[in-house]
Amino acid sequence: MTSAEIRKKFLEFFASKGHTIVPSSSLLPDDPSVLFTTAGMQQFKKYYTGEADPMKDFHSLNTVSIQKSIRTSDIDEVGDDTHDTFFEMLGNFSFGGYWKEEAIRYAHEFITKEMGLSLSYVTVFEGSAAVPKDEESKKIWQLLGVQDIREEGMKDVFWGPTGNSGPCGPTTEIYLKNKKGQDVEVWNVVFNEFFCDGSREQLLAGEAKLIPLAKKGIDTGMGLERLAMASQNTENIFATDLFAPLMRPLPETLDMGTRRIIADHLRASTFLLAEGVIPSNKEQGYVLRRLLRRVLTTEHRLHFSPQILEDVILSVIQEYGRDYPELVEKKNDIINQYFGESGKFKNTLGKGLKELERLTAIDAGEAFKIYASYGLPYEVVKDVAGEKATGFTRADFDAKFKEHQEKSRAGAEKKFGGHGLLLDTGELKAANEEELKKVTRLHTATHILQAALRNVLGLDVKQMGSDITTERLRFDFTFPRKMTPEEIKQTEKIINAAVSRAFPVSFREMPYEEAMKLGVLAFFKEKYPALVKVYTIGEEGKEAFSRELCGGPHVRNTSEVGEIKIAKEEAVGAGVRRIRAVVK
Ligand code: SER
Repeated sequence: MTSAEIRKKFLEFFASKGHTIVPSSSLLPDDPSVLFTTAGMQQFKKYYTGEADPMKDFHSLNTVSIQKSIRTSDIDEVGDDTHDTFFEMLGNFSFGGYWKEEAIRYAHEFITKEMGLSLSYVTVFEGSAAVPKDEESKKIWQLLGVQDIREEGMKDVFWGPTGNSGPCGPTTEIYLKNKKGQDVEVWNVVFNEFFCDGSREQLLAGEAKLIPLAKKGIDTGMGLERLAMASQNTENIFATDLFAPLMRPLPETLDMGTRRIIADHLRASTFLLAEGVIPSNKEQGYVLRRLLRRVLTTEHRLHFSPQILEDVILSVIQEYGRDYPELVEKKNDIINQYFGESGKFKNTLGKGLKELERLTAIDAGEAFKIYASYGLPYEVVKDVAGEKATGFTRADFDAKFKEHQEKSRAGAEKKFGGHGLLLDTGELKAANEEELKKVTRLHTATHILQAALRNVLGLDVKQMGSDITTERLRFDFTFPRKMTPEEIKQTEKIINAAVSRAFPVSFREMPYEEAMKLGVLAFFKEKYPALVKVYTIGEEGKEAFSRELCGGPHVRNTSEVGEIKIAKEEAVGAGVRRIRAVVK
């Protein structure tokens, strides 16, 4: 079966069982505590916890989707037969609609009848101190005639939560064989029966509590690439129709692992670029930079024409464009950003490679220095330096990176006159009372601006960055095109109306989850603590003009901000605009 046929079959099968088809959400989730969408269930978290009503939004308790996902945790495995960073996840979900019996029967029917494949084996939860063994699933599988049922523990067959907290529960997994006869985990069927009040790491360390959910839910996820591998009877995911066309432009002389890495990394990068991510040293941009630079290093070392990698990107757009039209819409931006990053990197890449050659042994400190001076990321140092760079792990490298960030923050403080800073939140800094007053006014102006932009340009406007000096505010946000002069004028009108209406500005501290329930705007790149401050601009008892998660500080009344003027509106990358504004 072709991958297009599989996608269609999956959606139709679950639609015929009363599931509403829901489109994939963005790769950049609303949940600020995670960088990427890693699973289909993420966009449905609030239906499991009862914060949102599936009947109202989907006219059904059950949904089905094909979700774009990225898992960077697998990056070191890419090159083998079954791992990738970007992948499509086929999933069916239920929010209090059905439970284990139906979930397992649907999965079994889909694999054996619809796909005509046979199961290799399944796993069920063996039980832990807090959660009993899953006897029920075992019985259901036995009744279906499955013989090989293996029991496993928390690490493998207990899913979630994603982010700082969320739904989670024991799972049952389905393994299929590929052409080599390897058993490959293809489908994970999760029984969401708990809310975990901490992260997965905390849960595994025994530092988080499991609270039974009022309504039990089903969350399943099946990797399209792996299912296609079983269905198309190939030896690995790269030989399926999802990857073969992307591998085609690559020289046959390259070793197989390298070709796989290039195809995988450029596919993930193309999807990230289409979402407006820009290569940088932070968060999502840093992941994108690493993916691209690893591939660009291979191009440079093996002297192949730049056309080859461009052809891979064009194949991604061509192959995936029908299901993901954003790739076609953003084609020019994708190519421009790609060559932009390529140009930047090539200025220093050659020198960085020489430095790697010169060194006889490379530890984490050296590796980080090479990144800081020449832009060669961890993966490149490992790939290129081979034996010389075996003495450190990714965690060692990341620790050096963090150390460096802390030092440069301390450096920024020193620059402000040796007396230390009165204020340094990263977003705004002030050395004395006068500066503090100015940046505080500009900070409130930033919140007013964001609310006004969402009013004029629509609710897709999301904060991508903010930087405030005593001179001006700078605000980056998602928006696909240049603002028209009318839109700028309209935005200024709303901003200054908010100033002249002298709205009070207040804040309240509350648990993060509660703030999310209020629909507060959060800056997705930030990691928030459990207790957050919510700043509200607006009259008491009326609908708020603006409400954002924020550490402050802010003025107490918008009249203190003074007249705001938009000085400049420009692009900073695909799908991201930047406004500079000043206050009088
Ligand atoms: N959330 C589970 C997973 O990602 C099932 O969808 O594996």
